[in-house]
Amino acid sequence: MRIVILPTPSHVAEYAADRVLDVVNGYKNPVLGLATGSTPVELYKVLVTRYQAELVSFEHVKSFNLDEYIGIDGRHQQSYRYFMNAHLFDHIDINMANTHVPLADGLDAKELALSAQLYENNIKVAGGIDLQILGVGINGHIGFNEPTSSFASRTRIKTLSQSTVEANQRFFEADEFQPKLAMTMGIATILESRSILLMATGEQKAKAVKHMIEGPISSMWPGSILQQHAATTVVLDEAAASEL
Ligand code: GLP
Repeated sequence: MRIVILPTPSHVAEYAADRVLDVVNGYKNPVLGLATGSTPVELYKVLVTRYQAELVSFEHVKSFNLDEYIGIDGRHQQSYRYFMNAHLFDHIDINMANTHVPLADGLDAKELALSAQLYENNIKVAGGIDLQILGVGINGHIGFNEPTSSFASRTRIKTLSQSTVEANQRFFEADEFQPKLAMTMGIATILESRSILLMATGEQKAKAVKHMIEGPISSMWPGSILQQHAATTVVLDEAAASEL
């Protein structure tokens, strides 16, 4: 694990954008793993700015998102498909057909299992993920792999933990339906990425960051398994690094 500590969230976003551009400009058929949540919003802004400055083209990029809610469709403002379109895809030259977000809404149990398998297959057919962007939950989750998730897990349905539901409540109106289920890449799926860049900012992430980097490898803090991944960089602002 390589640890990079920078002064502010803007520095973290600029650093992450540099890593994304290394892959997008350096590889013939780049495959990105993308994340949602508030942490990467600034990264996507920087990527759009660099695209507008003609420093990068996403024409040949394929992307796979980590996760998606079950119970709201892609037109819902809190769906991760909507998030990705609004924050990144609608503003760059990526081919929408090459952008993948787990397809999870409106499917019965059998179809959900097939959809998860298809997602795994599509990643393989694309040649695997070159760079996976990750955030981390305050309880240490990566994607929606909540504490106790198996390190051998593949793309599947997960029930969100109470703490994750509470942490994400801020995005939903008080009387609005909030999903408690999601489809997420598994931990084994994530670990197959050739390189990983985990971003964390703010003091509320400091405890999860400490467990992830300094704690024993434990499924109680899913991010800690990244200690075993050969090409993982964790980029932090000073607040997120404050308990190290
Ligand atoms: C969410 C997402 C994760 C994300 C994490 C942290 O629920 N499923 O992919 O990394 O929680 O989110 P945030 O960046 O908003 O703190």
